Amino acid sequence: FQLKSSNGFPPPNAVSSTKEPSAAGSEEMDATISITVVGASGDLAKKKIFPALFALFYEDNLPEHFTVFGYARSKMTDEQLRNMISATLTCRIDQRENCSDKMEQFLKRCFYQSGQYNSEEGFAQLDNRLREKEVGKLSNRLFYLSIPPNIFVDVVRCASLRASATIGWTRVIVEKPFGRDAESSGELTRSLKKYLKEDQIFRIDHYLGKELVENLSVLRFSNLIFEPLWSRNYIRNVQFIFSEDFGTEGRGGYFDNYGIIRDIMQNHLLQILALFAMETPVSLEAEDTRNEKVKVLRSMRTLTLDDVTIGQYKGHKKGDRSYPAYTDDPTVPNNSVTPTFAAAALFIDNARWDGVPFLMKAGKALHTRRAEIRVQFRHVPGNLYKRNFGTDLDKATNELVLRVQPDEAIYLKINNKVPGLGMRLDRSDLNLLYKTRYSKEIPDAYERLLLDAVEGERRLFIRSDELDAAWALFTPLLKELEEKKIAPELYPYGSRGPVGAHYLAAKHNVRWG
Ligand code: NDP
Ligand code: BG6
Repeated sequence: FQLKSSNGFPPPNAVSSTKEPSAAGSEEMDATISITVVGASGDLAKKKIFPALFALFYEDNLPEHFTVFGYARSKMTDEQLRNMISATLTCRIDQRENCSDKMEQFLKRCFYQSGQYNSEEGFAQLDNRLREKEVGKLSNRLFYLSIPPNIFVDVVRCASLRASATIGWTRVIVEKPFGRDAESSGELTRSLKKYLKEDQIFRIDHYLGKELVENLSVLRFSNLIFEPLWSRNYIRNVQFIFSEDFGTEGRGGYFDNYGIIRDIMQNHLLQILALFAMETPVSLEAEDTRNEKVKVLRSMRTLTLDDVTIGQYKGHKKGDRSYPAYTDDPTVPNNSVTPTFAAAALFIDNARWDGVPFLMKAGKALHTRRAEIRVQFRHVPGNLYKRNFGTDLDKATNELVLRVQPDEAIYLKINNKVPGLGMRLDRSDLNLLYKTRYSKEIPDAYERLLLDAVEGERRLFIRSDELDAAWALFTPLLKELEEKKIAPELYPYGSRGPVGAHYLAAKHNVRWG
């Protein structure tokens, strides 16, 4: 790692080391890390990536020598990039503390290079500027592809040929969507692997960086009381619910090509399901967890039309406010049948989960914003108190809820006696509400994942075989929906979604939580 050219920089285009030193390891305190956000002018970069980098810096989580570069076609100076970034930086750590000094320090480390995404020349210029900042130190480079997927491969080709680290590691964070189906995803993986090794590719699913999702394994594997119940013997059904109280505003063009099944179910909800259902990994090493997730995905039944119901929001008026239909978006064709809502029943054909319905529900423009995992337990056999519950014994079953957002919480619904001389039963919650238990604000998912990528921790990123298994489950269904142009059931913007979701659940003896 000491090889340097005469000007103190590593020789240009030298072969990258296969060794992956840690960025902040004590033996490499002099290493630099350059983080290049490709697509820096875009929505995700502004909303999530730069603020997450700032939060990491604010909490001293980034290595001492780091530089942030923005790369995109838009013409911008360093100063203009800084202005753009500072418009969205907030002191989320402690609202009361004035953090303008920290912001200034952070912004001084931010630079911008304009260039085309398919231009080797553009990335060679970026490389020159990165070298200036790296001043001959061992340099590690992280690229974040915050761009539309049709240009992923161009960028990876140009960056790997002209701007990868010569000594030190090069890693690339790839944003979803990873293809539209099994074939295009396989093609994307093959193309990326022409330029990168699998361990350089960090496929991000930001739901895996959410606090409650990260806590799922802790809940299961560090509490004796849950793991023994975690099977078909005690669990009646599991529900993964995602709902947003706004439509596809501003992203209709992207969305119409993908739909809710690809946007939310095939990735975010399926990833949570795999973590929920996997066997105990051998260790906390990334590959051990990812191996277990793949096993779950490969044990699942491929979805068919019978297992799903789809919907699309329509406009409606409430008081003097009117809400748009999905197809009112000028970037969406008037006759679009793209689902903005879907519910699905999935099954894992293995010994632990045989016969247990895993229901997913995901929708835009619904009445509320929430993401939850709900675990409904079986009825108490020979329930002594059944007459106290009336005819609806389902209401008496225990339910464990992990509320991923908003208001992160884990609560368990139990039955208890109403205090007094009579024998009346009640349902109550044993509730761990994060905001009352922990005063510190929860980091954004992108903070955790960016830090993991910097540190080379792959556990929360998607391996290519996981991705293949995920697409294998959904591709036949997606093809059939599209070939047959199945019309979605319309539901009013701001409602609870189409009634079809209730029929689907009822078919499996499930009631949505
Ligand atoms: P944008 O549409 O804002 O695109 C990012 C940048 O890419 C733009 O600023 C533009 O920069 C460039 N760009 C846009 N369209 C094209 C095009 N057709 N050809 C070449 N360059 C283009 O995307 P987002 O920031 O919303 O998302 C980035 C990635 O992250 C996407 O893959 C998206 O699917 C994913 N994602 C986004 C989320 C979000 O909330 N926005 C959430 C989860 C994932 P310039 O013109 O300056 O080159
Ligand atoms: C993205 C989807 O992956 O996740 C968006 O593309 C969705 O459609 C978003 O709005 C939801 O993320 P979060 O973290 O706001 O729940």
